[in-house]
Amino acid sequence: VDRPRPLVAGNWKMNGLKSSAKVLTEIHAGYTPGLKAKVELAVCPPATLLSLFAYASVGSRVAIGGQDCHAKESGAFTGNLSAEMLADAGATYVIVGHSERREYHKERDIDVCAKAVAAHRAGLTAIVCVGETREEREAGKTLAVVRKQLRGSIPVDSNSHNLVVAYEPVWAIGTGLTPTVADVAEVHALIRDELRRLVGKSEAPKVRILYGGSVKPSNAAELMAVDNVNGALVGGASLVAADFLAIAGAY
Ligand code: G3P
Repeated sequence: VDRPRPLVAGNWKMNGLKSSAKVLTEIHAGYTPGLKAKVELAVCPPATLLSLFAYASVGSRVAIGGQDCHAKESGAFTGNLSAEMLADAGATYVIVGHSERREYHKERDIDVCAKAVAAHRAGLTAIVCVGETREEREAGKTLAVVRKQLRGSIPVDSNSHNLVVAYEPVWAIGTGLTPTVADVAEVHALIRDELRRLVGKSEAPKVRILYGGSVKPSNAAELMAVDNVNGALVGGASLVAADFLAIAGAY
């Protein structure tokens, strides 16, 4: 079976000033031809750094992504950014539906889907995030929750070029906790299965499904070796170039 080229993406969240460009420079330096052959890298900095990082990354082949976008192309939406603006700044990816957006900004599946549609309209690849809370896992609802999020959040025009799915169990984010390898395998298999319904049988195997939640150099190899895990969405560890590169090197 043809495995998709893995993607290791760093989600910097609300971290990073202009001085953080030195982290990006270190990432460029460590993205050797050998590593490039094995894995694609993306960095999703705060929007204030998008242009700077996109210019700095020309030639390095490190992709740049936004962390959220508005569904509309332009208009009276104070404080928001459109997918077209992210693309104009040099982004090729945008994360949508991260659990922090779902929780703090009350984003529902239908909102996430509209953002992913906007991403596609602007020519961006949407990294659509799904994942259960601790309560949902303890209640045995993980698969049902993830299935519902996928069906509600993934636009019908999705394919293996414009869609990446990230499974991020909410209780694993920033906590140092990770699901067992068997649990990750179970959820990623469900996602692959759902993708067959959502994007079709020929595209589904090529869509990258990332695992996110406390990925570190010490657990990356184990997590990345799981069936249907095609990369990682890394939070905290992506702020340290050596850690981010070590995670990518786990492939
Ligand atoms: O989007 C990535 C993120 O939510 C995971 O964060 O810090 O647990 O790697 P962290």
